[in-house]
Amino acid sequence: MERTRWHPGSWQGLTVAQRPPWPDPNEVAAAARRLRGLPGLTTAGDVAALRARLAEVAAGREFILQGGDCAEPLGAEGIVAARARQAALHELADRLQAWLGVPVVRIGRLAGQYGKPRSAPTELVNGRELPSYRGDIVNGVEPTEAARRPDPRRLLRAYDSAAAVVAELRRLPAPDRLWTSHEALVLEYEQALTRHDPETDTWVLRSTHFPWLGERTRNTDGAHVEFLSGVANPIGAKVGPTVTPDELLRLCQRLDPQREPGRLTLITRMGAGTVATALPPLVAAVRAAGHPVVWMCDPMHGNTIRASSGVKTRLVGDIVFELARFTEVLLEPGEWPGGVHLEIGDHDSTECLGAGGPTDPSQLLKAYRTLCDPRLSVPQAHQVLTEIQQLLAAPAPVTA
Ligand code: PEP
Ligand code: CO
Repeated sequence: MERTRWHPGSWQGLTVAQRPPWPDPNEVAAAARRLRGLPGLTTAGDVAALRARLAEVAAGREFILQGGDCAEPLGAEGIVAARARQAALHELADRLQAWLGVPVVRIGRLAGQYGKPRSAPTELVNGRELPSYRGDIVNGVEPTEAARRPDPRRLLRAYDSAAAVVAELRRLPAPDRLWTSHEALVLEYEQALTRHDPETDTWVLRSTHFPWLGERTRNTDGAHVEFLSGVANPIGAKVGPTVTPDELLRLCQRLDPQREPGRLTLITRMGAGTVATALPPLVAAVRAAGHPVVWMCDPMHGNTIRASSGVKTRLVGDIVFELARFTEVLLEPGEWPGGVHLEIGDHDSTECLGAGGPTDPSQLLKAYRTLCDPRLSVPQAHQVLTEIQQLLAAPAPVTA
């Protein structure tokens, strides 16, 4: 099939998975026009600097810790959360760095992680069927019809909130740079913040440093892949257990046709029971095709379960297990397990089971504050990394 030449709007007209049911597309277009007049939230230089760091990861010389909320809140709450996530990520990354003896690239799910893909258009809240919450950039989490109506004014509130988080991160003293990332889901927002960089004659997505494609939006022929294929940022793609080696190679070819280290990070989220069988053929195929990708493990999203009460949770044991198997699978053929992607909440969060947190589902609601998926508490996140310390600290066979 002939593809039209890439431009920031070339995704329009393709199938847009997970598109919010905006009541009035004209209002979305008006919000996007306003966004186009606002300054980018990152610079082309910083985006290029992160891409160079990720090339180091691809070569086995650095490691990535990416983490934060599943869904970031807008407004003042988002600032409070960003401060806490920043502190937790640096704490965890400092420990990893000491164990691994390599620099740890710190990436927050911050300053834009406002859009959520959902598996169904409606959800049951307290026994009532409502339109699904799609993240604060689309609708409100409150369980009413009115709040759940997509509101395009939220695109501008999202920008303001992201800008405030960026300013806050800049203000806070930190041992290392904290880069920003989010799922590039709401393409009207992302397109409006894509700017031409005259120095390199490239298009840079300036809503974030590191955008990623979700498991539900990585269709090779879909709008999201088309959009991210043309921006100069380092990009991620979530890869779940249903992907075939052929499909993954088509995705790599679309997103990394030049085979450039640092360009593409594959974030695998297979599930504890699946990773050991599903991952090896994928790693072998990508290696044989010569894509110098970064392999990162998201041990969260393949391990979501529902407690009998209906509340979503995850077992820390499953998370540790997937991360351990991922690490072994990568080390076996001499590849570098390049990073970990975690959803992390507060110190006292009670959303996941085990490792010093709730032991029984009845204890989950004590401090269950996530807007979407269940996050590790900060001590649970420390525990996850501690349990695989031995594996991660094993001498890294450098492939490049
Ligand atoms: C997420 O990272 O919150 C998410 C929805 O992940 P995935 O696309 O892997 O399901
Ligand atoms: Co999530």
